Amino acid sequence: MDSFSTLIRTASHEQHVEAETSTFMSDLLGGRLGVEAYARYTEQLWFVYEALESSAEELTSDPVAGPFIRPELFRLTALGRDLEHLRGPGWRSTLTALPATREYAARVAECARDWPAGYIAHHYTRYLGDLSGGQIIRDKAEKTWGFARKGDGVRFYVFDEIPNPAAFKRGYRGWLDAVRADEGEKQRIVAECKLAFALNTGVFRALGGEARHTAGGRATGGRATGGCRSQTPASA
Ligand code: HEM
Repeated sequence: MDSFSTLIRTASHEQHVEAETSTFMSDLLGGRLGVEAYARYTEQLWFVYEALESSAEELTSDPVAGPFIRPELFRLTALGRDLEHLRGPGWRSTLTALPATREYAARVAECARDWPAGYIAHHYTRYLGDLSGGQIIRDKAEKTWGFARKGDGVRFYVFDEIPNPAAFKRGYRGWLDAVRADEGEKQRIVAECKLAFALNTGVFRALGGEARHTAGGRATGGRATGGCRSQTPASA
């Protein structure tokens, strides 16, 4: 029988492809979005990591979720620095969550409170992704919008305290394999992981819609059409 780390990876493969190839991610990686869309995405991440990390301390002693709580993964401070760079010192006062982001963050908070095993699914979906594909996003962001390499604007993607991400990911898979849960509970964690991906895709969809609305001006750097007159994608 497959290990749990293999199970969760293979079971969520389809959802990963969907997230990776979403219009918003494709446009971001294709260099077709303006820095405004990137800033908006970074704002949404702030709410997600706030939900993941504000509950972390209480989960440290939890027998199931406890092993996953590693301060070297925490992203909220880095996100704050990126947002200060992207939005200025008043970034907190203009920060708003899209409805899809609120739904996502609320589900993370609910799991953290009532179902620590479900919290693992959210933890895995974000942090292991950040350590993997996140590095591709960082590279693209640096090139597209001119952020300093691993500097302000992309600190979210820089794990200073994890010098060897490949080794860290191997260790992480070991914690997954050691999760104390019966088969039924493991299947529920896998289902929650698929939900976590779907919640991410929902945020991308909403961000893609916003980017289209601003496509005339900021998002593509193209013609200033005065907002959302056409429904053509930002890539058009
Ligand atoms: C365009 C964007 C993305 C790219 C290019 C990308 C790319 C990758 C790559 C290359 C890996 C494999 C790394 C390895 O085997 O060590 C990976 C793993 C992963 N990605 Fe993504 N990814 C993207 C978006 C996402 C998103 C949006 C999520 C979830 C929110 C995500 C979650 C994950 C997870 C959880 C893993 C770990 C799989 C495992 O080994 O168990 N990725 N990604």
